[in-house]
Amino acid sequence: MLFIDQVDISGKKLLFRVDFNVPLENGVITDDNRIQAAMPTLKYALDKGAAIILCAHLGKPKGQVVPELSLAPVAKRTGELLGVDIELVPGLLSNLAVEKAAALKPGQALMLDNLRYNPEETGKTAAERGDFGQRLASLADVYVNDAFGVAHRENASVVDIPKYAPVSCGGFLLQKEQKFLGDALQEPKRPYVCVSGGAKVSTKLGILNNLLGKVDDIIIGGAMANTFMLAKGYEVGNSLIEKDLVEDAKSIMEKADSMGSKLHLPVDYIYADTHEAVEAAGVCAADMIPADSMVLDIGPETIKNFVSVLARSKTIVWNGPMGLFETPAFAKGSMAVCAAIADLDDALSIVGGGDTDAVVHMMHLADKFSFISTGGGSFLEFLEGKELPAFTALKEGLIS
Ligand code: 3PG
Repeated sequence: MLFIDQVDISGKKLLFRVDFNVPLENGVITDDNRIQAAMPTLKYALDKGAAIILCAHLGKPKGQVVPELSLAPVAKRTGELLGVDIELVPGLLSNLAVEKAAALKPGQALMLDNLRYNPEETGKTAAERGDFGQRLASLADVYVNDAFGVAHRENASVVDIPKYAPVSCGGFLLQKEQKFLGDALQEPKRPYVCVSGGAKVSTKLGILNNLLGKVDDIIIGGAMANTFMLAKGYEVGNSLIEKDLVEDAKSIMEKADSMGSKLHLPVDYIYADTHEAVEAAGVCAADMIPADSMVLDIGPETIKNFVSVLARSKTIVWNGPMGLFETPAFAKGSMAVCAAIADLDDALSIVGGGDTDAVVHMMHLADKFSFISTGGGSFLEFLEGKELPAFTALKEGLIS
């Protein structure tokens, strides 16, 4: 596949698919990392004398025009960062976008409002997506995908545009994500450690199975560890579990050693009766979780164990917090893991997923990590070893 620096873009009109699905509170962006992450590609394009048309989604408006999910604040912030005015036009629901795109001059920028206002964008089949991708492609000379966060989605703006655009390529962000998540992990420096946490085993099963035998150590924390406790035959009180995945957890525990990956599970926990019962929180061994309580963070012995594994690691991939980190009383595990990784001088450390990213930023340690992926679901699917639809489409676009 091609990347933007292999394409002649000067004086051309570029249609960018970006992932600007940023958190908003009362119309105010609370974290603009995803917009910042696309800046190198957008600035490069403007410096080369291209005109840029940006398209993106925000939330899940399900084919309806939901005013709260307008990209207006995003267009404003992007314009501020780029130092150009960005006019927001209402997508392809009217002809305005076509007229404005046709009139765009080199160095100018335009943004289409939320792609998902149009039901065809997220159509499940090619028939449901209709000619939306083709109509988007016709706005520009070159299509640039720099939206790693939606690389796993078969959306029209991801998989259909390359079939019709005269030239399609990836942006620098897509290239960087591929370099760190793909190339760098092909021949990792060892020990290679995967740290997995968060609420659900179901979203991590693919990664765990793919990394078994490839990584030296797998550290499991967060509520997903509860299902492993259940698989060991421990009582877990009212803790979050996925009962139907107990057999999968057992199979991972059985296979790990023989495949050469050492599994590290919590040996103790911080528990409380509810998320709010901070004052009454206690520490218990992993096999002594009180019946009426729930585990909300890993305990001090577990922290020691996990930190000692991390201290000798050379490559780390981390996805998912160790506990309910949003509540300070249950944040110690996630903070300890974050600090232990940040402390490593000579290791490749890769983080992905919104919650994990939030822990890193909460501790102001982002610059201590080798790479923070902008992907959530796409990060997980990439590490599952799947080729993501965005990459397939860009490759196939080359020969169509
Ligand atoms: C994300 O926030 O992970 C991406 O923007 C994808 O969003 P989606 O899960 O709504 O497709």
